Amino acid sequence: MNLTHKLIAGHLLDGELSPNSEIVLRVDQILTEDATGLTAHLQFEALGLPLAPGLQAVSLVDHGTLQARPENAADHHYLRTMAARHGFYYSPPGNGICHLLFLAHFARPGALLVGADSHTPTAGAVGSLGIGAGGVEVAVAMGTARYHVRMPAIVGIELSGELRPWVSAKDVILELLRRLGTRWGVGRAAEFTGPGVATLSVPERATITSVGAELEVTTSIFPADEQVRRYLVAQGREADFCPLGPDPDATYDEQMRLDLSTIEPLIALPGSPGNVVPVREVAGTPVDQVIVGSCTNGSYEDMALVARMLRGQHVPPHVTMAVTPGTRQVYHVLSTSGELSDLIAAGARILEPCCGPCIGMDLQPPKGAVSLRTYPRNFPGRSGVLGDQVYLCSPAVAAASALTGVITDPRDLGDTPPRIEPPPRYPDLREITPPPADRATVEIIRGSHHTPLPAVTPLPDRLQGRVLIVLGDDITTDHIMPAKPETIAACANVTAMGNLTFSRIDPGFPARAREWSGGFIVAGHNYGLGSSREHAVQGPLVLGLRAVIAKSYARIHQANLVNFGILPLIFADHAAYDKIRVGDEWEIIGLHERLRTGHPVSIRNQTQDITFDVTCDLTSRQVQILLAGGLLNYARDKGDEHE
Ligand code: F3S
Repeated sequence: MNLTHKLIAGHLLDGELSPNSEIVLRVDQILTEDATGLTAHLQFEALGLPLAPGLQAVSLVDHGTLQARPENAADHHYLRTMAARHGFYYSPPGNGICHLLFLAHFARPGALLVGADSHTPTAGAVGSLGIGAGGVEVAVAMGTARYHVRMPAIVGIELSGELRPWVSAKDVILELLRRLGTRWGVGRAAEFTGPGVATLSVPERATITSVGAELEVTTSIFPADEQVRRYLVAQGREADFCPLGPDPDATYDEQMRLDLSTIEPLIALPGSPGNVVPVREVAGTPVDQVIVGSCTNGSYEDMALVARMLRGQHVPPHVTMAVTPGTRQVYHVLSTSGELSDLIAAGARILEPCCGPCIGMDLQPPKGAVSLRTYPRNFPGRSGVLGDQVYLCSPAVAAASALTGVITDPRDLGDTPPRIEPPPRYPDLREITPPPADRATVEIIRGSHHTPLPAVTPLPDRLQGRVLIVLGDDITTDHIMPAKPETIAACANVTAMGNLTFSRIDPGFPARAREWSGGFIVAGHNYGLGSSREHAVQGPLVLGLRAVIAKSYARIHQANLVNFGILPLIFADHAAYDKIRVGDEWEIIGLHERLRTGHPVSIRNQTQDITFDVTCDLTSRQVQILLAGGLLNYARDKGDEHE
């Protein structure tokens, strides 16, 4: 068996290990953050179940930490008291980014983690199976310790050789994105094997498993080996270590090879983490802003490398340089090692450990200005600004470019990069609060802006309405529900979410949807990629949407649509897409029978007097969820989640 199969088999409650079939897994750990997690917690309350026995659940605040709006602080009060009442660990704002905190304090080899955030596979760096999911799925998992997912095809990625000087783990995952693109991973999981694995530290592996989410894989995993043991020892958690890996004769559904010694410094051009080219191709481009941090490159090793490269020098006055240590622990080590002083003296702005600029909360660049970031994603507008020009790169490329003021291949700075030694022991800052012993008396503090989701009604047998919008390929959840402070403040306010839907790319959408009493969304390939935020479903839902018709879907978003009772249909013939116009009046009849039998559904375009077929790729449970009006209704009515 390969390692992924071993872990899935060890947690399998129902189903078979055959690709694309639905499996039910026993969950060990839960992770939530304050954006997507907020709705997960509200839905967990609505479900009315206690936290499942034996489940370790951690609620972390990292998105809206600056509390630029009063709703943020109110949301944090809610999450803190909710955690105390229901038995979650809680990490307050300022402690750091959820995935890096989880990796440092909770992730362990062999565990199965479900997180309300798309970068949950970061935990795969220590041999844990981390899967990102929508908030309502996480809410159900909180109460039942069960999680339903399609079994992915397991791809063995054999690493050989060793990275050359100035080439980093970020370049490894950018190389995979360059080769494979951002749609490749739908229905797949990546398992890293081969002799090259031993050359990568846990923080380097975490960079790869984190950005692996941009391939759209269900999860990514490394074996638990000596590197993992060393990392857990440094975190004071050696007891959590157990060696884990594939059998020597393990087989995979697919295999590929990557020689680490052939990789060079790479960069993703604005618009998508899949637009990857060698740094040399864009070297010399003037930069306005350079930011180092995020769940992808927020480790001590990343920060220290940048500090040492900047030591004794100063960034040019026209460059804004900022760093965001991934966790308070990393911040502390930088301060005691003196490297924080190097950053300050070089002119870097130091942000508190948080997601911050990655989700458009601060340091929004001027429109058109070149911003170089060590982040995992650069979808249009994700920086908070439509018309942004965000490039993604490694910390070494970022630091070299900050120093020169133009995009720079770090190999031009000399043959030997600074040598960074990880701390033998990280400080125990007790930054995570365990649940109190006496939880029954804890009062949950709610925000006055929290509004419940409208009840979702069962899917009707007949749908009628107009086409609200026709979108192209690779529409991200950042397009649907833009990353910006207003969105984070509206995470528990469904009316505000409706108003924000497509507000950046089509400001007239909310008014049109209300005037036409809902309708249909039409899209191209990979609809809903990127963030797992289910607000990208809840917003359209409150505007009356009941179906999306696309050429294909990203995994988490497709599940989110189903779980909120919205039908995700697929064009049987892509030629039909070309004829569709905004405002076309459609009718779909006999839906229930078609869904139950799996037969194609016919859409009658009454405006153009044509009919075309669509299909739906749903499990029988998903059909039941749709007919029930979403997962919350289904779980409450059927009770099969309560086993
Ligand atoms: Fe946060 Fe950006 Fe990672 S929003 S969780 S740092 S992808």
